[in-house]
Amino acid sequence: MSAEVLQVEGIDVYYGTSQVLFNMSLAVRQGETLALLGRNGAGKSTTMKAIAGVLTPRRGQVKLRGKDITSKPPHVISRAGISFVPEDRQIFPDLSVEDNLLIAIKPNTGGKKDWSLERVYDMLPLLAPLKARLGGQLSGGEQQMLTVGRALMGNPDVLLLDEPSEGLAPIMVQKIGDLIETLRGVGTTIVLAEQNLHFCLGLADRAVVIDKGADVFVGTIDELNADAEIKQRYLSV
Ligand SMILES: Nc1ncnc2c1ncn2[C@@H]1O[C@H](COP(=O)(O)OP(=O)(O)OP(=O)(O)O)[C@@H](O)[C@H]1O
Ligand SMILES: [Mg+2]
Repeated sequence: MSAEVLQVEGIDVYYGTSQVLFNMSLAVRQGETLALLGRNGAGKSTTMKAIAGVLTPRRGQVKLRGKDITSKPPHVISRAGISFVPEDRQIFPDLSVEDNLLIAIKPNTGGKKDWSLERVYDMLPLLAPLKARLGGQLSGGEQQMLTVGRALMGNPDVLLLDEPSEGLAPIMVQKIGDLIETLRGVGTTIVLAEQNLHFCLGLADRAVVIDKGADVFVGTIDELNADAEIKQRYLSV
């Protein structure tokens, strides 16, 4: 079994006085794609925000390579090697595609830059002809590609993708799927939050199912797909 890169251990997370995560746990292994599956409002985004430091758990720990990163601010967690691509695709609308990518450059924790502008354009061929276009003029799918490209420019150890296929046309969903597959092929460690189990089949190695803010299943993606009861109870399939 390969080493665990990221561990979420029994976190409780609140919005104000309202508790949303209850003793939520998951672990991500080096080089794997872990699907975080659950229905609308189950707590997927909240879990990712807690990992990325956007929200602070009241209880429990988040560890990166064994080091406690709970309660660290987002920029510290990003520098420590975790890139978060949120649901709402925060690109800079008034900057060109290329400038959106360039401002995200950061060496990885080993000081290396595995990802360059050239390699990102190579991986995301759709962006190359758009490099001079303003971020705000891109289609939803193009913006999604750009947010992933920006995350890669930060040379992450772990990439958090929050529902990257949401709201996209089928052809773009296919392209995002191909991209995730390619990233996994080059060894990127990915957490993929999704409502759609079908999208994760063939992309993810393992899955954690979250329901009402707690983990209710962990196993391989194929084990999950074979478990009619879990799927019926916790997923919209
Ligand atoms: N800013 C907020 N303030 C209060 N409650 C919130 C806030 N954001 C989310 N919630 C609540 O927390 C719960 C979990 O939401 P979360 O966004 O983590 O779910 P999700 O699994 O990402 O859902 P979706 O698939 O719709 O994106 C929901 O009940 C939601 O209403
Ligand atoms: Mg969400």
